[in-house]
Amino acid sequence: MRLDKYLSQAGIGTRSEVKKLIKHNRIKVNGTVITDCGYLVLESADTVLFDDKKISYEKYSYYIFHKPGDCVCANEDRDNKTVFEYFKDVNTRDLFTVGRLDKDTEGLLIITNDGDLSHRLLSPKKHVDKTYFLKCQDDISQEDIISLENGVDIGDDKVTLPAGVLRGDKSNEIYLIIKEGRYHQVKRMLKAVGNEVIYLKRITMGKFELGDLPLGEYRLMNERELEYVAGYKSGNI
Ligand code: URA
Repeated sequence: MRLDKYLSQAGIGTRSEVKKLIKHNRIKVNGTVITDCGYLVLESADTVLFDDKKISYEKYSYYIFHKPGDCVCANEDRDNKTVFEYFKDVNTRDLFTVGRLDKDTEGLLIITNDGDLSHRLLSPKKHVDKTYFLKCQDDISQEDIISLENGVDIGDDKVTLPAGVLRGDKSNEIYLIIKEGRYHQVKRMLKAVGNEVIYLKRITMGKFELGDLPLGEYRLMNERELEYVAGYKSGNI
């Protein structure tokens, strides 16, 4: 991989920032100062130093983000704040969200540059569970719960797959566990039973949990979560 790309992907800076570092003799590869931005680095073998400190290069980054209800899942948007505007001190150029939440939806988002993981979590065939906590305009009856569990007609070719429902503290609150990820699915499911979602938050996606991460904050996945990543990618989960 080109040296400037390597440095940028290792989070050292944007392409133009790392080019300046290279030109200012601040980068060494295997002990030798390299001033050629196109120098080819062997990721598995070469030792790259920035100001004589070893750079640890990780091909993939995995973050858990607690999305607030004021931003869109897009890399750029002319009219709205994006989720990436919450990422400080991170080079977000190659990152994307694993699926999308609506602008007004809060909760768990996985953010990565690993397209394979994204595919495995989103593929309709994999049936990865997503848990949402939601509040509705009106109370949710036992009959509605049974309909949501069995599958409802949201105007698509097929009714929704069987879902899990748990009651929340109040009679207009539930936890809904779905295996699909259709467009506006949760809101449309509640509409199908004559209700309206007024607050929506995702709390799990597969084995990943939001936990107590504060709203608007992000963190790198921990070791246990990285094991889940490996499990999804190898098809063991
Ligand atoms: N279902 C919705 O309706 N909205 C979301 O943001 C996620 C699931």
